[in-house]
Amino acid sequence: MSSRFFETLAPQYIHDLPVYQPGKPIEEVERELGIESAIKIASNENPMGPSPRAVKAAKKAIESAHWYPDGGAFRLRSALADRLEIELDEVIVGAGSNEIIHMIVQALCRPGVDEVLTHRYAFISYRLAAMAHNVPFVQAEVTDQLACDADALIASMSSRTKVVFLANPNNPTGAYVNTRDFERIVDALPEQALLVVDEAYHEYATYAHELGEVEYPQSQAVRSRDMPRIFTLRTFSKIYGLSGLRVGYGIGDRRVVDLINRVRRPFNVSSVAQVAALAALDDQEHVSRSRQAARSSIAALRDCAGSLGLKSYPSLGNFVLFDVGRDAVATHEELLREGVIVRPMAAWGLPTCLRISVGTAEQTERAIRTLGDVLGSSTGGLAGKDAT
Ligand SMILES: Cc1ncc(COP(=O)(O)O)c(C=O)c1O
Repeated sequence: MSSRFFETLAPQYIHDLPVYQPGKPIEEVERELGIESAIKIASNENPMGPSPRAVKAAKKAIESAHWYPDGGAFRLRSALADRLEIELDEVIVGAGSNEIIHMIVQALCRPGVDEVLTHRYAFISYRLAAMAHNVPFVQAEVTDQLACDADALIASMSSRTKVVFLANPNNPTGAYVNTRDFERIVDALPEQALLVVDEAYHEYATYAHELGEVEYPQSQAVRSRDMPRIFTLRTFSKIYGLSGLRVGYGIGDRRVVDLINRVRRPFNVSSVAQVAALAALDDQEHVSRSRQAARSSIAALRDCAGSLGLKSYPSLGNFVLFDVGRDAVATHEELLREGVIVRPMAAWGLPTCLRISVGTAEQTERAIRTLGDVLGSSTGGLAGKDAT
C-alpha cells in the first residue's frame, strides 16, 4: 500500500489534530520505573474516591449489564433537574463533560465558518474539539496572572463567534471570572453566540464563595433571567469521584439542549455510570468532606510553593499551578522517579509549569517533601529565594 493512501485518508485538519496525551496511569509508571507505591496527583481527581453509596449502586448495576442503558438517562436527568429546580428537558448528559464539549461544537458550528472563542491557557479540550470539527479557534489574551481578561475576551468577539468557552474556574490555571466580569461578558455576547460556562470545579468554587472569599457567578441564575444563550457544563468526574465512569451534564435552554441532543450517540452514558452518578448526587456529605479536604491540600501546596520560592497561582479548583522556573518536563520526570506523578504543562504552552492536584493529606505531604528534595538538590536549595 502506498504511503499516499494514509497521507490522504483523512482531511488535513484531522492529520493536524494532536492526540490528547493523558497522564500516565500509576501501574504503568511503576512498571516502567520498577518502583512501588507511586502516587498520582495529576488529573484533578478526588483522592477520597467515590461515595460508598455510588460504589454500592454501581456494583448492583453490573448485574444488569446485559441490558442497554436508559438512552434518555431519565432518572439521572430528573434528579439533576430537581436539584437545580429546572425542567427535565433543560438537562443533557454525556460521557463526561468532554463529550458534551465536542457535541456543542459539532451541533452548532459550521466548519470553516463559525468561530470558537476562548482565552489562552484555557482547558485544552476546547481547542481539540474545534480542530476535530475544522472550526476556526480564537484565543483572547489573558492577564499577567494567566486569568481570563474580560476586556480582551470581549474585544475578540465578532459576528463569526458562535461558541464562547469559559471554564470557571479554569484548568490548568485555577483562575476564575468574578460576578462583575461574568455579567460584562454576558452583556457583550454577540447575538448569534452561545456562552458555554464550564463549571467542572463548581462544587469547590462555590465553597470559597460561601465562605465569602470570592464572588463566584451563578451562571444558571443569570440564564434564568431571560438569558437563554448561557449553557453550563458540570461533571461527576471531579468532586463526585467518578472520573473512571465518564459522566457529565449540561444545563441550558431546552431549545439549545434539543439541538445538542441531535448529535448525541445512542446510549452514550453507561447504565453503571448513570446509577452511580444518581447515588453520588444523594451523598452531599461526601461532597462537603471532599471540598474541605481539598481546601487544606491547596493551602499546603501553596505554602510549599511559597517556602520553595516558587510562583504558584491562586486556585478555585482542586489543583495548583506551580511555575518551577525551569523545564517542568524534566522536573516532572525527576518527581516520577520518586513515585510522584504530576502534570507538566508544556502542551498548554506553559513549559515551566507543573499542575499538582490535591491528594490525601499523606499524598500532599509526600508531594511537597519530594518537590522540595528534587528542586533543592538540583538548585542547591531554593528556600530563601524571592517569591515571584
Ligand atoms: C475545565 C474542565 N472541563 C471539563 C473537564 C472534563 O471532564 P470530564 O470529561 O471528565 O467530565 C475537565 C477535566 O479535567 C476540566 O478540567
